[in-house]
Amino acid sequence: MSTTISEADALYQRVAHVIPRVEWATMVDDVQAILRLKAEKNAVILAHNYMTPEIYHGVADIVGDSLALAREATKVDADVIVLAGVHFMAETAKLLNPSKTVLIPDLRSGCSLAESVTPEDVRALRAAHPGVPVVTYVNTSAAVKAESDICCTSGNAVKIIESLGVDEVIMIPDQFLAANIGAQTGVKMIVHPGACEVHERFTPDDIETIREGNPGVTVIAHPECPRPVVLASDFSGSTAQMQDFIEKERPRKVALITECSMSDNIAQNHPEIDFIRPCNMCPHMKRNTLAAIRHSLETLTNVVELDPATAAPARQAIERMLAVK
Ligand code: 13P
Ligand code: SF4
Repeated sequence: MSTTISEADALYQRVAHVIPRVEWATMVDDVQAILRLKAEKNAVILAHNYMTPEIYHGVADIVGDSLALAREATKVDADVIVLAGVHFMAETAKLLNPSKTVLIPDLRSGCSLAESVTPEDVRALRAAHPGVPVVTYVNTSAAVKAESDICCTSGNAVKIIESLGVDEVIMIPDQFLAANIGAQTGVKMIVHPGACEVHERFTPDDIETIREGNPGVTVIAHPECPRPVVLASDFSGSTAQMQDFIEKERPRKVALITECSMSDNIAQNHPEIDFIRPCNMCPHMKRNTLAAIRHSLETLTNVVELDPATAAPARQAIERMLAVK
């Protein structure tokens, strides 16, 4: 299939505001190959908001935060799902749509939160706090989800905690998300000492420096940031909630206290907004490259498989989450 100049130019327009044409020239061959392979293999690409713009705007079919990707995975009709994100997201897609072939472009795409907690840790917490419900962040392995009562994401954590109607929960593994949600809901949090290696590095001093250098800036922090960072910000929410806030409020100048690609992806459609970029990069998310996605589609690797013994209880914890309205 050959591509005309106007088709190639239309593709470039998807990223023109954030990728220089000279850089795009090194990417366009992979982009076109991926678009062709998707059609040949009846595949769709679900991409997290932290993908780089050439993936997010260039080849993805569905983009979103962890919650949106989980919801969308249940609706996929295609034979193959490529999860451009990290391993726990691919596992979640497989749990929710088990008849599909779910691929992860690079098996090493982990997450410091998912790696911080084991099923044994959950069992020990349960034994130490009998009767207290276990709420597990989706950033965990299926084996950890299998030990939990219900999952949550940063986008629905308040709603999930409130739906339980209790004054104490075990909320794992992100100590900072738990502190932020505990403060918002008034529910006592029993925590595990996990943290996101991207968000734990931001400090209140960073926010102060941004405000000093950029008068009038709106600061939006992800709730995986430490509590003092969230308190120093104007708004806190999941990556999708950050985007919704910007669409609604149209701030003139914004600092997103999160992973680097987030600002790039929104900036493409909002050249009028000045993005201050004090970002930290997630090395796991960045293992998703055009070359890795192309290879994944060409060879139909790496297939995500689940242990049937943990799949059923893990699915139940995610489905309970999705059922909370
Ligand atoms: P959300 O996109 O759900 O806000 O999560 C951020 C994150 O760090 C996922 O790895
Ligand atoms: Fe995990 Fe943090 Fe990377 Fe998200 S940004 S995948 S929470 S390490």
